[in-house]
Amino acid sequence: MPFARVNGNMLFYREAGEGPLALFVHGFPLDHSLWLDQLKGLAHVRRCVAVDMRGFGRSDPVVDPVLTMEMLADDLAGVIEALGADSADIVSLSMGGYVALALYELRPAIVRSLTLIDTRAVADTTEGRAARDAMADRLLDNGRHALATEMIGGLLGRSPSQRAQARLRSMIEGTRYETFIAALAGMKERPDRSSLLARIEVPTLVIGGDEDALITPEQTRELADAIPGARTVMVSEAGHLPPIEQPDQVNQSLIELFEGRKVVWWR
Ligand code: MLT
Repeated sequence: MPFARVNGNMLFYREAGEGPLALFVHGFPLDHSLWLDQLKGLAHVRRCVAVDMRGFGRSDPVVDPVLTMEMLADDLAGVIEALGADSADIVSLSMGGYVALALYELRPAIVRSLTLIDTRAVADTTEGRAARDAMADRLLDNGRHALATEMIGGLLGRSPSQRAQARLRSMIEGTRYETFIAALAGMKERPDRSSLLARIEVPTLVIGGDEDALITPEQTRELADAIPGARTVMVSEAGHLPPIEQPDQVNQSLIELFEGRKVVWWR
């Protein structure tokens, strides 16, 4: 089983393909299996590595009460180094995007390109922070099964396949309770990174689901507009999780990014 020892923790990852490293960074409360269709579909163009971040999936449990985005970003830098690479294409979704932006701020030279899927640079609003506390309460009162049912209803598009529903439920119900609590606390205190966007100098792809209710298409377009030269792809018939809802559309966009076919992106 492949694990990288980083910052005192064993982090699980799954790997496919050869070539330049592409690191896939999951959202909350998910794990590396979010990216299985990408590992399958992109192995011919990249060494694709999907990691379970600290506390998630098969990686070591989280000990700190707050899982900060900066801590997770530092772990990613450690994974890239442990894999023997100098840099990586970073492909991230939602909370993974918060971590990817923190990584770009802390270690820009390690990021060869950036893909941000259904994510945002702004911090939580006051209402957003209160909603995280309420989610933690519901989780502890009603358990993961009830929360997964609620999240499947809220995160996927209007007509989700049974496969997408099943994969999302497996990821949510496989996440440790203490990881939920620590990650909610970490997202709650993450800083606003909007001012970083204008300084992003690597090829950037911004992907949204056209039925995402959490990060709306408008928010996705605003994020892309703030990043010089970023390309936007709006995935049809997908909510918050295009990699499992419409893997072919996501893979095609990533192939175009990785193969540099749209040469105008490259600066
Ligand atoms: C995610 O998908 O990673 C989370 O929904 C992000 C968030 O709650 O802000």
